[in-house]
Amino acid sequence: MSRLVVVSNRVALPGENRAGGLAVGLLAALKERGGVWFGWSGKTTRDEGGTLHEQEDGGIRFITMDINRADHDAYYNGFANRTLWPLMHFRLDLVDYQRSTREGYRKVNAQFADKLAPLLKDSDTVWIHDYHLIPLGALLRERGIGCKIGFFLHTPMPSADLVAAVPDHLRFFQSMYAYDLIGFHTQRDVERFRSYVRLYGGGKVMPDGEVEAPGGRRLKTGNFAISIDTDFIAQQSRAAVNKTQVRDLRQSLRGRQLAIGVDRLDYSKGIPERFHGFERYLARHRDQRGSLTFLQIAPVSRGDVAEYKQLRSELEQLAGHVNGGYATPDWTPIRYVNQNFSHATLTGFYRAASVGLVTPLRDGMNLVAKEFIAAQDPEDPGVLVLSILAGAAVELTEALIVNPHDLDGVADAIATAATMTKANRIERWRSMMEHLQRHDVHAWCRAYLSELEAS
Ligand code: G6P
Repeated sequence: MSRLVVVSNRVALPGENRAGGLAVGLLAALKERGGVWFGWSGKTTRDEGGTLHEQEDGGIRFITMDINRADHDAYYNGFANRTLWPLMHFRLDLVDYQRSTREGYRKVNAQFADKLAPLLKDSDTVWIHDYHLIPLGALLRERGIGCKIGFFLHTPMPSADLVAAVPDHLRFFQSMYAYDLIGFHTQRDVERFRSYVRLYGGGKVMPDGEVEAPGGRRLKTGNFAISIDTDFIAQQSRAAVNKTQVRDLRQSLRGRQLAIGVDRLDYSKGIPERFHGFERYLARHRDQRGSLTFLQIAPVSRGDVAEYKQLRSELEQLAGHVNGGYATPDWTPIRYVNQNFSHATLTGFYRAASVGLVTPLRDGMNLVAKEFIAAQDPEDPGVLVLSILAGAAVELTEALIVNPHDLDGVADAIATAATMTKANRIERWRSMMEHLQRHDVHAWCRAYLSELEAS
């Protein structure tokens, strides 16, 4: 088995909270093969950056790189999160394109390539992750790297015409032809990439689905739905009932049901729409008023980016508005919390909830949806309300599927979820749980890597 080299902007370093799906899956694969995880150190510096740090843990080498402060601002706050992120989530209205940040992004990717290339062997398998590092494969090829290089996009792939609205898109997206396998979460993402290749990318899609780049290079594309460590989360949530924060939450409900949402504070997650949906639920289902408390946990994310700051103040206003309209002296409809909790505690919160609200406007997959299912009590499971616009909706078909733009639909789904019979809840939960046990994050890793190695 070849050595595995994983590359991503953020690295799950030893000693950090590494219980999230992706970290668990990649760490298991790295451990099995003996491998390297390469990425940003989390430090920005006044000097030109590029200093490497190395540590070893459980047979895995973690090698991370410092980035110059101004370069990082252009790369991360600029091109990655103000150009690519909104583009990937179909928000052309929020795309801010600047040549200067595009240049900073390219510079940081080139610095990654300069530092990584000398560490690679011909027999390695390199697996690059997400929109921060799209051109890295091509930059490694320019530096003479000939081994298998795969890429996985964790966000949605946008429609071809949206991509084509971005200046210089061709040069940028053509760099993806340097990979041997490009993985997406769903077949629709694969199809949108292929249509970009045909309509704008100057390439061809062969009858077997292979992509032929201009110049003749062939590469594969495929769908690999990322998942969670299902059994681990089930066990974590069982143990979490004894945690103080979980007990305190349960007690504070005083017999009321709980609806829960957990998201990074990000406009793709549809949190304002969810608040409006909950308000509509209170308006349309008077008989249920006061029986369901909605806890929205939304840790601040990318707080230096303007759109994220705006969202934060919008949500503060909106939570106040709904609570002002519907609260009673002994009940607050929405508890809105920016604090971050440990993964274990979150699984305990999910288990305490009767309703899980996962209603993004666009999401590559959404692992909260999967974790919510895995964390339920098999004897008395809660109900998932899930957006049709999340990748997870392809698999979690027994959730109550909603369109987050349809407030009445969201409102009625909340009411249905809160009053569903136990037999119905168990039946829906069981079929989704069985799916997640067969398709966990380890299966995802294996499926992707065996396809890459066979390419
Ligand atoms: C999304 C992206 C990841 C990213 C994560 C957290 O899930 O696909 O690549 O790491 O958000 O965002 P942050 O900007 O904090 O890394």
